[in-house]
Amino acid sequence: MIETVSDLSRLREIVAGWKREGLRVALVPTMGNLHAGHFSLVMLARQYADRVISSVFVNPTQFGPHEDFARYPRTPEADMRGLEDAGCDVLWLPSVDTMYPLGTELAMRMHAPGISDVLEGACRPGHFDGVCTVVARLFNQAQPDVAAFGKKDYQQLAVIRQMVADLGFPIEILGGSIVREADGLAMSSRNQYLSAEDRPRSPEIRQTLLAMRDGHVGGAGRAEIEAEAARRLQAAGFAVDYAVLRQPDLTEPGADSQGARVALIAARLGNTRLIDNLEF
Ligand code: PAJ
Repeated sequence: MIETVSDLSRLREIVAGWKREGLRVALVPTMGNLHAGHFSLVMLARQYADRVISSVFVNPTQFGPHEDFARYPRTPEADMRGLEDAGCDVLWLPSVDTMYPLGTELAMRMHAPGISDVLEGACRPGHFDGVCTVVARLFNQAQPDVAAFGKKDYQQLAVIRQMVADLGFPIEILGGSIVREADGLAMSSRNQYLSAEDRPRSPEIRQTLLAMRDGHVGGAGRAEIEAEAARRLQAAGFAVDYAVLRQPDLTEPGADSQGARVALIAARLGNTRLIDNLEF
């Protein structure tokens, strides 16, 4: 049976008990409205730990003033049942007061310079400060040995790896594969915002990522690949925030550089902002 915990002292008691028994503890942070992508992270975490805690907290500090914090979908009952089926032991469900005892205005803030200022960080100023601020708190609360994050949020995973390395958190970070709908749309809690007209257009993001890869493999230049990707998305009705080819650390590849690449797209259909990426 999964135990739902909202009290920090109770969470600490559970984790301390596990540690006394020598058990390895994993954390899977989420904002709820859980889908197969989240559950795959719980199952991944299970492979690296004896006990899994999943947190559900819609974190106010990572939303911009005009973003969807208030209307972000909240489905606590279904989340709990799904987590239990996925093999999660504890659902950590803190209140805003528990997460931010001084309130969000006075809360200590994290900032990862450089990596958090490009791409998603450039489109959503302060977003990664909020993510790091809450994830550092979750790490302190749950004291995990391992934590799992999805590659769907490629840059978020990179920012968290940087925070963990820089601050010396003794936590192994796992990156879980992107889970997709049958038509290729990456699963996301925000997909349900898509209108009936826009939903069938959304797999074009995945198709464009595949075309970017094929262009790269076929020897096309980066500028050409990125321009063609943006053109293709616009033709399908998207407003494009970015469609870029980067090195795995998200820096721009030099003209003659070889090696691994990641294609990343953020694009909007109506009011719905979608992100996806492909490594090759
Ligand atoms: P949330 O969007 O709920 O996502 C929680 C975790 O699930 C993240 O690590 C995300 O990358 C992963 N995830 C989401 N969709 C996925 C998919 N289709 N396939 C694989 N993994 C997927 O990301 C956040 O919450 C927050 O920023 C958080 C880290 C919890 C901090 O508040």
